Amino acid sequence: MVKVAVVEGDGIGHEVVPVARDIIAAVRPDFEFFDVEVGYGRWERTGSACDEETLADLQSADAVLFGAVTTPPDPGYRSVLLQIRHALDLYANVRPIRGEGVDIVIVRENTEGLYSGIEWTEPDRACTVRVVSRWGSERIARYACNLAKSRRHLTVGNKANVLKSDCLFIDICTVEAARANVPCRTSYIDALCLDLLMHPDRYDVIVTTNMFGDILSDAAAYLVGGLGMLPSANVGERHALFEPVHGSAPDIAGRNIANPVAAIQSGAMLLSHLGDPASAAAVGEAVGRVLSAGIRTPDLGGTAGTREFGAAVLREVGRGKA
Ligand code: NAD
Ligand code: IPM
Ligand code: MN
Repeated sequence: MVKVAVVEGDGIGHEVVPVARDIIAAVRPDFEFFDVEVGYGRWERTGSACDEETLADLQSADAVLFGAVTTPPDPGYRSVLLQIRHALDLYANVRPIRGEGVDIVIVRENTEGLYSGIEWTEPDRACTVRVVSRWGSERIARYACNLAKSRRHLTVGNKANVLKSDCLFIDICTVEAARANVPCRTSYIDALCLDLLMHPDRYDVIVTTNMFGDILSDAAAYLVGGLGMLPSANVGERHALFEPVHGSAPDIAGRNIANPVAAIQSGAMLLSHLGDPASAAAVGEAVGRVLSAGIRTPDLGGTAGTREFGAAVLREVGRGKA
């Protein structure tokens, strides 16, 4: 029996995750789902956002479907998502950007860089150490090259003109690309941000360090209609977690207007990861048909609610099966 842990999290996570879960359950009625509570809401209620037992629950699943968590900018609060990514060693954050004339995959290193967790606060300054290790860079470079081998080429997003840590990163990525016979070029991340938006056709697989990948992927959402559209996979050797790129969106939470496409497509990535690309494709095609029929949430200029959009996708998935 395939076990899927379901984490709604906070804010619109409570709205988009049930929609995605129902769609996965419709195509795979044999999956067993179990809920896991983490996040700011839990922290407010119990004083703990996530603990060892919760992490063990997530580790026991074949895959995790995750919504979003609120992270207050409080120095005493450690982001739950970062705890989970570290505990499950989810080193590759894969963020596909697909839409009309756009087919790009950002592969973001997910465990080190500026998110090393090595930081401290002094009275008059605060420091965060950016760690780029050979081992960490080799594994993400290999992941990206493996993906690029069946696609077109690789771009290494970096700031090696300023950061010694990125000199190491690009060296390792270029060596891995040559080894895998993948055409590869390097691009400074600031210029890349703009060029990606102006000429998306120039890009295929982009590999980059943790924080650059975080920023680049939100910007890239512009190409396909915004944050409501971008799914992602967080993958390691033993575990995998699937979540929208967006956050808990407190500004729109609780109003049934959040776009569930990112969460649904994250569900499709989960299906693919669990060895069912046919169901993943069926879900992706159903989403495409609903959008083409003009059923859209307000962020895409439509009037459909989160639940109504989900119901339309469920109907299409059913039709596809018939
Ligand atoms: P956000 O992604 O939550 O929202 C940014 C903007 O995009 C908002 O205006 C929001 O309404 C809109 N938006 C996001 N998702 C949408 C959707 N599905 N449909 C329609 N509109 C959508 O980013 P933020 O506002 O910077 O952060 C809010 C909280 O979420 C913070 O606490 C942040 O730390 C957290 N966060 C969590 C994750 C995660 O859990 N993966 C990711 C990013 C941010
Ligand atoms: C993301 C988010 C997270 C990140 C935050 C909430 C820790 O922005 O998944 O893109 O920075 O990785
Ligand atoms: Mn982000």
